[in-house]
Amino acid sequence: MSEPVIKVARSGVVASQVFRDAPDGDLFIAEGLGAIPFDIKRVYFINALANPNAVRGKHAHRRLEQVIFCVNGSFKLCLDDGEKTQGIQLSAPTYGVRLGPMLWHTMTEFSPDCVIAVVASDHFDAADYIREYELFRAEVAQSRP
Ligand code: TYD
Repeated sequence: MSEPVIKVARSGVVASQVFRDAPDGDLFIAEGLGAIPFDIKRVYFINALANPNAVRGKHAHRRLEQVIFCVNGSFKLCLDDGEKTQGIQLSAPTYGVRLGPMLWHTMTEFSPDCVIAVVASDHFDAADYIREYELFRAEVAQSRP
């Protein structure tokens, strides 16, 4: 997987540190306050993506910072900062993508063996989610200088 070129605001690429040890496995590392640009308070994983038509995400966070990695398989990450949109194919843990605050994100096109890992800057808070796209657009517009 080549390094994604990020065009939207409040995102970016996080390069893992990699120790390649084939055929005995590759080791990927991303440290909080190192490659990950925040202190990690929560980690979650998504697997068992048996439905090829699954659509995950479809929300933005008001304050939360996250970085998303494709640990195995592949999926498509769609980002929308309220002005620009882009799709990124993730197929390796080499590069994670920053999901900063106020960035609408959607995940689709999961391979059946896809495993996603996300590191987050804070504990779960349902009130930090914006799940309605029109509300997201309105809040982004309001936060513009
Ligand atoms: P959600 O963040 O919407 O998943 P995705 O973005 O992958 O589609 O979360 C799905 C459900 O899981 C939702 O009911 C909230 C719950 N959840 C927690 O309770 N704690 C967590 O840390 C996360 C990420 C989700």
